Amino acid sequence: MPIKACVFDAYGTLFDVTAAAREAAADPAFPELAKTWQSLAAHWRDKQLQYTWLRAVTGEHTDFWQVTADGLDWALEATGLHGNPDLRERLLQLYWSLSAYAEVPEMLRRLREAGLQTAILSNGSPDMLNGAVSSAGLSGQFDAVLSVQDVGVFKPSAKVYQLVEARLGTQPREVIFVSSNGWDAACATSFGFETVWVNRTGLPMDRLPGRPAHILSDLKALPELVAGRNHA
Ligand code: LAC
Repeated sequence: MPIKACVFDAYGTLFDVTAAAREAAADPAFPELAKTWQSLAAHWRDKQLQYTWLRAVTGEHTDFWQVTADGLDWALEATGLHGNPDLRERLLQLYWSLSAYAEVPEMLRRLREAGLQTAILSNGSPDMLNGAVSSAGLSGQFDAVLSVQDVGVFKPSAKVYQLVEARLGTQPREVIFVSSNGWDAACATSFGFETVWVNRTGLPMDRLPGRPAHILSDLKALPELVAGRNHA
């Protein structure tokens, strides 16, 4: 069955989630970040994701922005950086306008030129996603920007992955779902998408039932992968 749509996770896949802490660390106003920004960024991301999974299991859904702020507060305290409200505010502001990875604009252009539909499917709230898409200069590059807000539960609930068929009219087997989060790629595979895991940092494969169909180290080769898949 030919692939008709490429659907992307947002945070960590299209947008570099470490950029906020890295850019704040380059600001002379926050010298305390010089040695700790990497550990802050890792704690922030870990807690943000843990809170989404826990809230999905307990049914205590909230906006992804709340979860992002809660994860940051935990991370700031864990790294001893919680005494500076200006730093907190700056990090949240930077998270709103994260940079896209360098290869993203050209990769999207090539997919669209080849007639593929492109979409985002993310935990992010519509406001956050629109902010990120527009600040990264990607407006007009997606047929749909789909947020879990419409189903009131975070990934990896099947309700989230079902949004793609409901909005794009594509069956799961006509979709390549692309995520840099191993758990997201694994669960989307179990759901029925053909998946690409973008493993930028050489992480081991998650021990989950679904195994991604393809692994890339970044997004550059995605248009060739889809073209090869459709001409096979
Ligand atoms: C997202 C998170 C999981 O964009 O990265 O959905």
